[in-house]
Amino acid sequence: MKNQTTRHQQQSLASQADPYEIYQRAVQSPEVDIELIQMIYQSCHTEPAFHLREDFCGTGFTLSHWIQQGDEYTGEGFDIATEPVQWGRQNNFVTLKDAGKRGVLHVADARDASDNKPDIRIAFNFSYWVFQQRVELKKYFQLAFDDLKKGGMLMVDATGGTEALSEEPYETEMAGFNLVWQQKNFSPVDHTADLTLRFCFEDGSELPAYQYRWRVWSVAEIVELMNEVGFADVQVWWQDDDAPGLGYYITQTGVNQPCWIACISGCK
Ligand SMILES: C[S@@+](CC[C@H](N)C(=O)[O-])C[C@H]1O[C@@H](n2cnc3c(N)ncnc32)[C@H](O)[C@@H]1O
Repeated sequence: MKNQTTRHQQQSLASQADPYEIYQRAVQSPEVDIELIQMIYQSCHTEPAFHLREDFCGTGFTLSHWIQQGDEYTGEGFDIATEPVQWGRQNNFVTLKDAGKRGVLHVADARDASDNKPDIRIAFNFSYWVFQQRVELKKYFQLAFDDLKKGGMLMVDATGGTEALSEEPYETEMAGFNLVWQQKNFSPVDHTADLTLRFCFEDGSELPAYQYRWRVWSVAEIVELMNEVGFADVQVWWQDDDAPGLGYYITQTGVNQPCWIACISGCK
């Protein structure tokens, strides 16, 4: 027992952490996201959305909360990586027993077709920025448009600001660790950059979460592409903590501030 304790004490905090559990805790807020999704959906529908498609879903955390809204709420998640999907099935869906069966996670590309056409389709935390070419992002939007139920909505988020291209790490303090977001090697020519997301612990150990090259898209480009593939009523929702309700308002201009987040919605 004494030996076991000693070994345990020698392990770094990073090696003891569950990367998916702390990612969900540090990065995602499914309850807040669902309120926002339903608010934006109902800005142009009289009924709430029922069937959600979560693209780049990872562990399907948002979907697992979505289906808990009630028996009529269902959904599908799409992610190409097996490991987070398997972790999500075990930890976010099996634990919900029968209710968990209303959410299906596919190990599949975000451009693949849904089993059932969604009312609402989301790509959050800027994950769709892995599509670096205009033609690739346009194709993704076209496939999303075609796959939606008539009247359905696509909602994606975007970020930027006067400090958005800085290589400085951006740290958020959490209980027991810091979340560090950093962009490096930005190319002013093709607007791609290396994004890293990692967790830093009090003992100096680190746990990498994600690392990939993405394109830093502008809201104007996203809006143009959504319009080009046929989306109607494309709106930009600007995050502002002082705005009433859920802290988002529709804008034509935005605000040139150090760091901003927006949601862009479009209807079929
Ligand atoms: C940063 S994680 C997003 C996790 C979580 N859904 C969130 O919103 O924070 C990006 C995810 O996109 C997935 N991914 C990358 N390219 C993809 C593609 N073409 N189709 C589906 N998933 C993809 C990765 O496997 C990874 O799990």
